[in-house]
Amino acid sequence: MSKSIIRDINLAPSGRLKIDWVRQHMPVLNVIREQFEKEQPFKGYRVAVSIHLEAKTAYLAEVLKAGGAEVSIAGSNPLSTQDDVAAALAVAGLNVYSWYNATDEEYKDHLLHLIDDQPDIVIDDGGDVVQLLHTERTEVAAKVIGGCEETTTGVLRLRSLAKQGDLRFPMIAVNDAQCKYLFDNRYGTGESVWSGIMRTTNLIIAGKTVVVAGYGWCGKGIAMRAKGMGAKVIVTEVDPVKAIEAYMDGFHPMNSLEAAKLGDIFITVTGCKDVFTRNHYELMQDGAILCNAGHFDVEVNKSDLANVAISRRIVRKDIEEFTLQDGRKIYLLAEGRLVNLAAGDGHPAEIMDMSFALQALSAKYVLENAKALTKQVYVVPKEIDDRVANIKLKSMGVTIDSLTPEQQAYISEWNHTT
Ligand SMILES: NC(=O)c1ccc[n+]([C@@H]2O[C@H](COP(=O)([O-])OP(=O)(O)OC[C@H]3O[C@@H](n4cnc5c(N)ncnc54)[C@H](O)[C@@H]3O)[C@@H](O)[C@H]2O)c1
Repeated sequence: MSKSIIRDINLAPSGRLKIDWVRQHMPVLNVIREQFEKEQPFKGYRVAVSIHLEAKTAYLAEVLKAGGAEVSIAGSNPLSTQDDVAAALAVAGLNVYSWYNATDEEYKDHLLHLIDDQPDIVIDDGGDVVQLLHTERTEVAAKVIGGCEETTTGVLRLRSLAKQGDLRFPMIAVNDAQCKYLFDNRYGTGESVWSGIMRTTNLIIAGKTVVVAGYGWCGKGIAMRAKGMGAKVIVTEVDPVKAIEAYMDGFHPMNSLEAAKLGDIFITVTGCKDVFTRNHYELMQDGAILCNAGHFDVEVNKSDLANVAISRRIVRKDIEEFTLQDGRKIYLLAEGRLVNLAAGDGHPAEIMDMSFALQALSAKYVLENAKALTKQVYVVPKEIDDRVANIKLKSMGVTIDSLTPEQQAYISEWNHTT
């Protein structure tokens, strides 16, 4: 407890209730916890976790601790840490460095504290810890055995680092496992983004025109759920194939300047910057709502928004109103940070059950295969993906078929006539 840097230790009982609630809805992680308790795979190792610090992440950290690890944890975004959850973890004996609404300096300071605990394994979300290890803490990086990355943006950063030959330890791209992106990015983001928007605005979605920028795994989920709630859905893309996919899925792809004139609610989820800028704000309707679900708060250009506005004020928790010269008002949710985490509780527990089971098993894999792994970005081994899927199916009471030897032979054989 003494090392932790948190807002208020007295909040711990409320955080503990939140962790207990999600634990009941994370059956895969519960199976892994039992295994870890017996096998103690992390005994004698330090694990640093930097993922949005809310209840599901807290439970992952506790599962790693149950496996023998000394766990240090920090948030991965200044607005997504829940102070009561952070307090509960500190009481449980983890080293916690995080609080809600940290300044940029505080956020970085928290990550440096995490790194200064000299981790053997790093579990990152978005790549900020790995970036600091490769810039300001290279002496710590030299001793890191390896790690895992949670999200698309972090994997992109890792691949770029590896491509230039500078990655200092092996990293597993957990995001790219099937049990991650098919469920977390699509169904998790699809649901939690709407939960964040609806609880923040208390407005109806049916009948609204929603613009989803980016039709990747996350964008597909957000668009699908918007349609289900009765919205008209426009998609903007830069990839021609994804634009056709959106069209065939029943949405309306168009360029972003056209979309700017039509939307009531705009959601960016591209992993790219400057998706909406001054050019778009000048075309938007009075009352347009802007938010972001991509990893960094660079998708909605906030300085352009401030510059086109003659005044701004907070009108509701997590809603800022920008008034333009001609009287139009544009609303920005959660400072343009991930709306589902900065203005919500993140993905449903049943979804993070799979993502975090992959994290726990991939971290164990890194330790067990430390000698064989080189300084590259690896995909999650198929056996781990399949194991997570099988435990999940079992927890849902679903049984499936398996191939007979004859079927296996048939699909492996090229030289048959029927
Ligand atoms: N909010 C969350 O909880 C959550 C969950 C998972 C991932 N993410 C983050 O969301 C972002 C998207 O992740 P993903 O898995 O969907 O990625 P993805 O690579 O599957 O999809 C991104 C899509 O955006 C498109 N795109 C890129 N630049 C664009 C631009 N300027 N305008 C329009 N479209 C553009 C790409 O062509 C691609 O189709 C990443 O930053 C990722 O880290 C957030």
